[in-house]
Amino acid sequence: MTRLHVNVDHVATLREARGINYPDPIPAASICERAGAHGITIHLREDRRHINDRDLEIMRKVVTTVLNLEMAATDEMIAIAQRVKPDICTLVPEKREERTTEGGLAVADQLSEISAAVKALHDADIRVSLFIDPERREVEASREAGADVIELHTGDYCLAKFGHQEKELMRIVAAAQIGDDLGLSIAAGHGLHYHNVTEVAGIGEIVELNIGHSIISRAVFVGLEAAVRQMLESMGER
Ligand code: PXP
Repeated sequence: MTRLHVNVDHVATLREARGINYPDPIPAASICERAGAHGITIHLREDRRHINDRDLEIMRKVVTTVLNLEMAATDEMIAIAQRVKPDICTLVPEKREERTTEGGLAVADQLSEISAAVKALHDADIRVSLFIDPERREVEASREAGADVIELHTGDYCLAKFGHQEKELMRIVAAAQIGDDLGLSIAAGHGLHYHNVTEVAGIGEIVELNIGHSIISRAVFVGLEAAVRQMLESMGER
């Protein structure tokens, strides 16, 4: 079984586009759970461009499945996580000027900093996932850093032109196998939509997908509950 964690950041993006108090990502999270999502993912960015501190606090109280907090490995974010205690933190690279998370975390090149962040979160009883490119070096470094989970970046696969997808998919398969052999739990995400998710969900080692933009986009037309159910169907879960 592959679990689906729905990223509800884009409900908050719509709210922030007007600077008012709706739509609210909190009821969105509850609807996703009711539709069968196995977890809720939110990214508290340094610039609070979508999810804000209030969302995180309330989300911690109302999410009944798994709350996955994506964040940069900064002192500010680690202190927030230690206080709010999400079930799992996914460390991601963050650049102010990017539209969305662009590449994976450079774990191998920042091994001591990432290891320290992992330890600080473990000390607060929070599981840690590292969002990385599907490369052996990063998988092995993630294991060395003490991660519990690696989330493989599926962006290159999702953006690959016709004829190049298979090669990108094989990079994900290989990285998932290496991680699994090292005892890591394997997640994946970024850019996945209804027509490219089946192949990734079919990789045996991958136990969890984090999907946001495509689900929230489809919700505009069919409603959020149906959008989540349809994604579970595309993943082969229904
Ligand atoms: N995983 C991570 C680490 C992300 O940063 C994001 C985007 O916030 C996602 C998954 C979801 O990506 P998408 O919105 O393209 O489905």
